Amino acid sequence: MKRLLLLNGPNLNLLGSREPGVYGSQTLESIINSVNESVEPHGFSIEHFQSNHEGELIDRLQQANGKVTGVVFNPGAYTHTSIALRDAIQAIDPPVIEVHLSNVHNRESFRHHSMLAPVCTGQIVGLGAKGYQLAAMALIDQQKS
Ligand code: DQA
Repeated sequence: MKRLLLLNGPNLNLLGSREPGVYGSQTLESIINSVNESVEPHGFSIEHFQSNHEGELIDRLQQANGKVTGVVFNPGAYTHTSIALRDAIQAIDPPVIEVHLSNVHNRESFRHHSMLAPVCTGQIVGLGAKGYQLAAMALIDQQKS
């Protein structure tokens, strides 16, 4: 079975109870399960990793190099600050799609800029948990073409 990496950054372990009006009421575990269910019929499985630590996210991206078909990545607040994560994405081969549950563009101005988007294949914002599924399906479609 081919693999996709689902990577989540800081505070996303709290999904379900963290600001449900902004991020929805689904837990991270339930999001992972739904993504797994949608990719399985296509011969894919999901590896999931969440960390509140920038260096651990970088380590996981490096480990994914050459091993996964693509990465669905919600970098949380590191989106707006991390040159180190940007360099890691640029240094690896698998395509990375940046996902945000909330529409970062209708929130505080510091959320409007992504350090990572320019080195990602694409970005999905504001569609809630569905965004992870759409990103996974896009990575699957892309590798077929
Ligand atoms: C987020 C948006 C970020 O600005 C924020 O820091 C998060 C979650 C989202 O999924 O909407 O932690 O990535």
